[in-house]
Amino acid sequence: MCTSPHPLAREVYNRFFETNLGDSGLFPAVAELEKETVRMLGALLSNPEASGHIVTGGTEANLLALWAAKKLSRKTNCEVVVPASAHCSFDKAADLLGMRIVKVRLNDRFQVDVAAVRKAIGPKTVAVVGIAGTTGLGVVDPIGELSELASEENLYFHVDAAFGGFVLPFLEDLGFSVPEFDFAVPGVCSITIDPHKMGLAPIPAGGILFRDESLRKTVSWGISYLSGGETEQATLVGTRSGASAIAVWTVMKHFGREGYRKIVKNCMHLTLKLAKEAQKIKGLSIVTQPTMNVLGLKSNTLDIRRVTEELRLRKWAVSLFPHHIRIVVMPHIKKQHIEQFLEDLNRIADELRG
Ligand SMILES: Cc1ncc(COP(=O)(O)O)c(C=O)c1O
Repeated sequence: MCTSPHPLAREVYNRFFETNLGDSGLFPAVAELEKETVRMLGALLSNPEASGHIVTGGTEANLLALWAAKKLSRKTNCEVVVPASAHCSFDKAADLLGMRIVKVRLNDRFQVDVAAVRKAIGPKTVAVVGIAGTTGLGVVDPIGELSELASEENLYFHVDAAFGGFVLPFLEDLGFSVPEFDFAVPGVCSITIDPHKMGLAPIPAGGILFRDESLRKTVSWGISYLSGGETEQATLVGTRSGASAIAVWTVMKHFGREGYRKIVKNCMHLTLKLAKEAQKIKGLSIVTQPTMNVLGLKSNTLDIRRVTEELRLRKWAVSLFPHHIRIVVMPHIKKQHIEQFLEDLNRIADELRG
C-alpha cells in the first residue's frame, strides 16, 4: 500500500531529517508546520480543527486512538470491538494496552455487520472501530451506523482510514458514490490517515487525527528535560524526525486536491479495467466490486497460493490473504502494467490448469 515517494518529498525529507519533533521547543517552526499539516489533513476529513500528529504509520496511529479510548474510559479491564477485517495493528495495540479484542463478523458485502457489533458491545467495551478502506479489499464499513451505535452506548469511536483517507475524498470529488466516513459523522472521535500510503509521502508518515485538542491531550505527556525547554509529546515515540511532517506538508501543497484527484482517478480507472478483464480469465473471479483501488481475486479451481507465487516470480508485488489475492493499483501503475499483468495472469492460470 506504499509506493515510491514523490521526488520533491524525498528531497525535502533528506534536507530536514535531523530536525526533531520530540523536542518541539528546539524546532518551533517545524512544530508549527506539523500543526499546519494536521490542519490540512483535517480539512480533507471535514474538520480543519482536528488535532493530532504525523506518526510512524497506521500502526502507531491506531495504537494512540485505542490508548486515548482506554484512558478516557478509566477502565482497566476493557474491550475494543473491531470488524473481523481490521488490520493486525489493532491486535498489537490491544495486546500492548491489556485490552481484549472482540472481532465481529462481516456481512456479504465484506462490511462489518452492525447488528453483530451491537451484540458484541458489553459492560467492558470502551471503543468501537470502523474501517474506511479495509486492508484486504478496500471496503468501507457503515461508518454512520457505527457512529450512532457508539454514541448511543457512550463509546469512543475510531475510524481507520489509513489507506482510504487519501482516496475517498477524491473519489467523492470525481462523482463516485462515497458514504460518509470522516469527521462529518458526529460520533467519530479519531481517524487514522496515512500519507505514506496513497499520499506519496516518504515512509515513515502515518497520521492520527483527534476530533479536538482535548482528545489529543488524553495521550499527551509533559516532558521537562529537553534542551528546547518544557514540551509535551502525544506520540508513542519521543525523538522523531520533523522531516516526515515537512515532507507531508510539501507533497500535499505540491499536489493539492486537484493533483490527488488526478492520481486517484487514474488508479480507480485502472482498477476497474483490471477487475473487468481479470474475471474473464477461466477459474478466476473478483471477490467483490472494488470500492477503491484495491482488488481481490479468488478461485474455486486454482490454488491461489500457487498463482501468487508465480506472480511474485514475475516480480509482481501482490499479497496473499486467506481466501484471495490482493492487488493494490498504486499511483506508479500505468495502463501497460495492467495489460502485462493480465497477460501474466492469463498464462499462469493456463499453466496451473494444466
Ligand atoms: C487499514 C490499515 N490500517 C493500518 C495499517 C497499518 O499501517 P502501517 O503499516 O503504516 O503501520 C494498514 C497497513 O496496511 C492498513 O491497511
